[in-house]
Amino acid sequence: MLPESLLCLISATLAFAQARQQLTLDSVASFNTLRLNPPSFSIPQEERLAVSIALCSVTNSQPRFFVSNISNSDAQSDPGPAGGTSVFEIKLVDGLGSWAGGFPNGGLLSVQSSDADGFSFDVGLSTNTEPLHQNITLPFLGDTTSNQAIILSAPFAKFDIPVPSYPNYTLPAANMSQPPPPSSTPNMTLIVTETSRGITGGPRTGCFLSSQTTAGAIDEQTIWARDISGYRSQWLLSGLTPSTNYTAFVVQDSTKPPLSAHSCTLSHSVLG
Ligand SMILES: *[C@@H]1O[C@H](CO)[C@@H](O)[C@H](O)[C@H]1NC(C)=O
Ligand SMILES: *[C@@H]1O[C@H](CO)[C@@H](O)[C@H](O)[C@H]1NC(C)=O
Ligand SMILES: *[C@@H]1O[C@H](CO)[C@@H](O)[C@H](O)[C@H]1NC(C)=O
Ligand SMILES: *[C@@H]1O[C@H](CO)[C@@H](O)[C@H](O)[C@H]1NC(C)=O
Ligand SMILES: *[C@@H]1O[C@H](CO)[C@@H](O)[C@H](O)[C@H]1NC(C)=O
Ligand SMILES: *[C@@H]1O[C@H](CO)[C@@H](O)[C@H](O)[C@H]1NC(C)=O
Repeated sequence: MLPESLLCLISATLAFAQARQQLTLDSVASFNTLRLNPPSFSIPQEERLAVSIALCSVTNSQPRFFVSNISNSDAQSDPGPAGGTSVFEIKLVDGLGSWAGGFPNGGLLSVQSSDADGFSFDVGLSTNTEPLHQNITLPFLGDTTSNQAIILSAPFAKFDIPVPSYPNYTLPAANMSQPPPPSSTPNMTLIVTETSRGITGGPRTGCFLSSQTTAGAIDEQTIWARDISGYRSQWLLSGLTPSTNYTAFVVQDSTKPPLSAHSCTLSHSVLG
């Protein structure tokens, strides 16, 4: 027979464990399925929300995520594959997925997985139309030598170029300098791996890729207006192995909501 105070403590812990954790607006939260009880979350009331999921570790169990936007009441059961009114699946492609809709009475998010070893994932709730996790455009391979490369991100800041017009068709100087730099630069991180290492088969998410070791050495990271499409981040990489295929990813992590966070993308780059 347990002492009474210990019994109280156990029942209090059970009651606490059964309450669903509430997700916070305009932020990304990290979880591991081994430490989820129950495997579902409560979503606060909001006119419109974009819910996004990013897998942060490799799992072979093909987890499924379901959202319901009928209510966040404790009496409501977890949304699941059986469907029902207002139950939607957030399908993951390369570890990333999102769903947007109205949550006038709040909602629920649940995860279903058969992975006994557990896996980690991030959930983002955005009150903006843009989800907090999203794909960003492919990086661009600038130039290579046998063991060096210049990699550029997609353009992130436009600039104005005066267009000549009648009657003044003065051409710009042939030696144009760089246009005025943008006032702020998104936080972009380059991750380069040997293509044969196969991390390209894992999730293409910021949280997963940021945890991987990157090949070569970044000698310099600057911003560069390569063409009229705008300023890009530019990385000068060295220490690569000749005749090896590398894959480059760019992860963009903006700390300022409601801009995109933890986004990433992939480019297959063949280096000579
Ligand atoms: C990310 O891009 C892939 C194609 O590369 C697409 O199938 C997928 O739906 C996109 N994911 C999101 C969340 O937009
Ligand atoms: C849930 O979202 C769907 C799709 O956006 C929408 O049609 C439906 O009205 C929403 N349910 C509620 C209760 O708002
Ligand atoms: C013609 O255009 C050039 C380049 O934009 C500018 O420097 C120059 O002042 C202009 N001249 C006149 C007369 O507007
Ligand atoms: C471009 O060339 C002109 C003429 O040689 C020179 O006066 C000017 O300083 C140069 N501008 C830049 C940005 O190098
Ligand atoms: C930039 O992003 C990286 C990786 O996502 C992160 O480790 C770093 O703290 C960020 N830096 C700033 C200044 O936010
Ligand atoms: C690099 O990639 C190209 C194109 O996918 C392939 O033809 C070539 O065999 C690869 N080289 C190595 C060393 O893996």
